[in-house]
Amino acid sequence: MEHTRIKELLKSEEFGKHVIVKGWVKTFRNNQFIAINDGSSLNNIQAVVDFENTEEALLKRVTTGAAVRVEGTLVESLGKGQRVEIKVKELTILGDSDPEKFPLQPKKHSLEFLREIAHLRFRTGTFNAVFKVRNALAFAVHQFFNERDFVYMHTPIITGSDAEGAGEIFKVTTFDFDSIPRNEQGQIDYKEDFFGKATNLTVSGQLEGELAAMALGNIYTFGPTFRAENSNTTRHLAEFWMIEPEMAFYELEDNMDLAEDLLKYVIKYALDHCAEEIEFLKSRLLEEEKSKPQNERAELNLVDKLNFVLANNFERVTYTDAIEILKRSKPNQKKQFKYLIDEWGADLQSEHERYLVEKHFKKPVILIDYPREIKSFYMKQNEPDAQGRHTVRAMDILFPGIGEMVGGSQREENLDKLLARMEEVGIPAEEMDWFLDTRRFGTAPHAGFGLGFERLVLFVTGMTNIRDVIPFPRTPNNAEF
Ligand code: 4AD
Ligand code: MG
Repeated sequence: MEHTRIKELLKSEEFGKHVIVKGWVKTFRNNQFIAINDGSSLNNIQAVVDFENTEEALLKRVTTGAAVRVEGTLVESLGKGQRVEIKVKELTILGDSDPEKFPLQPKKHSLEFLREIAHLRFRTGTFNAVFKVRNALAFAVHQFFNERDFVYMHTPIITGSDAEGAGEIFKVTTFDFDSIPRNEQGQIDYKEDFFGKATNLTVSGQLEGELAAMALGNIYTFGPTFRAENSNTTRHLAEFWMIEPEMAFYELEDNMDLAEDLLKYVIKYALDHCAEEIEFLKSRLLEEEKSKPQNERAELNLVDKLNFVLANNFERVTYTDAIEILKRSKPNQKKQFKYLIDEWGADLQSEHERYLVEKHFKKPVILIDYPREIKSFYMKQNEPDAQGRHTVRAMDILFPGIGEMVGGSQREENLDKLLARMEEVGIPAEEMDWFLDTRRFGTAPHAGFGLGFERLVLFVTGMTNIRDVIPFPRTPNNAEF
């Protein structure tokens, strides 16, 4: 390779050295100063052209977005804002960029606009920083589990089961929609389909993860999951990435400890390895918040917020206690919640979760022991309480500004209890025989959770819309690129 990455040169002290740089033009000032970025750093390197001895036609092609090759000498910069620059000996245009047509001009663009040109937004500082942090977090997840001897398990993307039983699935088929085979009763005949049965994209790798954990001990998945929920919010994607550890012989306490350790570990990793990017995102957020009234601005800046999470234990609270807090809360008393909390059993909406985390406890909260009726069939059932209310060993981790970051539970290991619950919610046991075998042969306590990767990236980057932390978001009415 003949060129040096800009990140390296910006750190270099080797003044007088002959260097070659390749990158894209950010700005070109006074027919002389080219700011070049190659993606390696948020910072550009300045290349100074001897414009009097350079052809006018060539200089005209130095436009924002063009790819260039610059050969010259690394010198100490006299200008403000940079330590080093390149005195150009030879300038080559590798790829032109028509200034009339290139949509990313050197000015501030709104995130909404950038979302429409998501194929080009990687070239902005904000998205450079976001995707570097995303990368660091993904790496940190693997490192965390690898250090703890967990096995990374690839669970299927195409499956015949709906792990969460919520029915929010994308079907997978090779049927010709103009002539779908039907049986004598007129129902779709999936026996004729590619897999000989109805299939869908996975909503979670948990059930397959449980099978592996009940042999290998500790496993985790980290892959794409798909939900056809029609939630057009800043927290939901139709395609998102989830990390799902599953551990044999873990109970709920162990599960909570692991989740809290994981979150703190990856946040610390990002702070340590992406200091520049997070500093940049902190400034971006402060700038964005200037347009908001004082009382809507965050109390802590991004870096302080992340350090605050590292420094404090997550608050562990039962659903029943949380309901009491919510019942007595001001927004409930004053009927400011959209969904008022008046009795035990109510599902918590994001307004309630955010009240608990942002107003009441002011730190991450782990809510446990939810009513059985509002949680998935596989969760371990507690003994009914004094009032005969049924709860399950669920845990949701709620984060400020995000709401639910993690959903998990201890699993029901008792075959009869699990079968009874499946029947109640209408899951046919014969379709789940493979899953039930773990309870038939050597069943044991086990637990796991799912961490929504984009929600984690949202939190660590301080971005406010989940569409801005995944390269190409899929949401209702949107599968562009
Ligand atoms: O709470 P959920 O639905 O839990 C499960 O899928 C379990 N099977 C996990 C397990 O125990 N192994 O989803 C887990 C997490 C949520 O807490 C949230 O962070 C994220 O996945 N999530 C979404 N993220 C983005 N867009 C969506 N539509 C999401 N739905 C869930
Ligand atoms: Mg959940």
